Amino acid sequence: MKLPDSFWVILGLTGLVGLGFIENLLAGHTPVEVSVQNPTSNFSAEAVVEALWQAPNPEFLPDGAHKKQVLYGKELVAHTAEYLGPEGKVASISNGMNCQNCHLDAGTKVFGNNYASVAANYPRFRPRSGTVETVYKRINDCFERSLNGQALDTNGKEMKAIAAYILFLGEGVKAGTTPRGAGLKELPVLDRAADPLAGKAVYLAQCAACHQENGQGILAESGKGYTYPPLWGEHAYNDKAGLYRLSNFARFVKNNMPLGISHETTVLTDAEAWDVAAFVNSQPRPNKSTPHDWPDISKKPFDHPFGPYSDGFSEQQHKYGPFKPIQQAQKAAKKILS
Ligand code: HEC
Ligand code: HEC
Repeated sequence: MKLPDSFWVILGLTGLVGLGFIENLLAGHTPVEVSVQNPTSNFSAEAVVEALWQAPNPEFLPDGAHKKQVLYGKELVAHTAEYLGPEGKVASISNGMNCQNCHLDAGTKVFGNNYASVAANYPRFRPRSGTVETVYKRINDCFERSLNGQALDTNGKEMKAIAAYILFLGEGVKAGTTPRGAGLKELPVLDRAADPLAGKAVYLAQCAACHQENGQGILAESGKGYTYPPLWGEHAYNDKAGLYRLSNFARFVKNNMPLGISHETTVLTDAEAWDVAAFVNSQPRPNKSTPHDWPDISKKPFDHPFGPYSDGFSEQQHKYGPFKPIQQAQKAAKKILS
């Protein structure tokens, strides 16, 4: 039996009486990992569901230097272009997009590519670089790829503020865990390859009104940041960005686009999400050379669209699918190794 997530949230909240919870709320921290047993016992013991992550509110922090830094970090995530875009008032190191264009509601939206699990999981080993990455390095990855720009000085005020904000958001999350609702929601792969032509029809019907038929979006009146951000072309994310992988794009769009929807009010079918991802990611965009990515090629994700690969599948199949045969081959290879 499947119930909407809001049901579980409400159930979770009503079940949580007690001063500890209220104190947490006042401090701006809601508990993130809550197991809820249905009190009416119409459900079996399986109906123990972890409540969805909720972002803490930095406005509740005690006044002082830390609060100031966290709020500045939030401002930079929400209005990146104003400070660091082509005409940024601090520096000019990125393409005019805001972090928030992809990390919705300043990285707090459930399944909106939020930052819930960053604090609990960094520094961490990432196979893309083959190194242990700090949160600074991960932030700069997005500057260099998603914002097609340059890395921020890791000792600078801006980097420290962005990191402080992102770490603040994940403060209540237990080390090494990923709360429910974090990042992007899983989406099953299709049995067939994603189809850019079918995706173009989805794009024209569901996306072009805002992102424009030419994919370039619409610049804000101030000229800093976008009313509707670009999806391809010279001002968009480059080909080494996370969204250039079909699975990330499809998972983001399925649960967040057209603007205003959530994972509970999806509009696109799974197939439409994959197809529109294929269409958008078949359009031209900036190229970034990253010769040091994936030092161990066997660790490339199934939908990494650039060879060489440790399996026999083509770049075409790694980009558009069908992905199941690739996933099966990866599983089999892992078994042999272990
Ligand atoms: C064009 C879209 C886009 C923009 C703009 C963008 N990001 Fe990202 N970012 C992503 C995607 C997609 C992922 C997940 C990638 C993956 O898992 O491979 C991600 C991941 C991250 C992560 C790691 C999250 C985790 O749970 O491991 C951090 C931190 C991050 N971004 C910070 C930023 C910051 C700071 C900015 C602005 C400077 C920014 N991003 C701008 C798309 C974007
Ligand atoms: C009603 C307007 C609207 C529609 C329709 C819409 N979007 Fe968006 N989209 C936005 C806005 C605005 C943002 C940036 C959100 C923010 O900054 O809070 C965005 C962000 C994005 C992003 C991440 C930022 C980027 O530029 O890379 C992608 C990808 C995206 N939309 C894809 C789509 C797709 C695909 C569709 C159609 C299925 C679609 N959108 C429909 C308004 C819209």
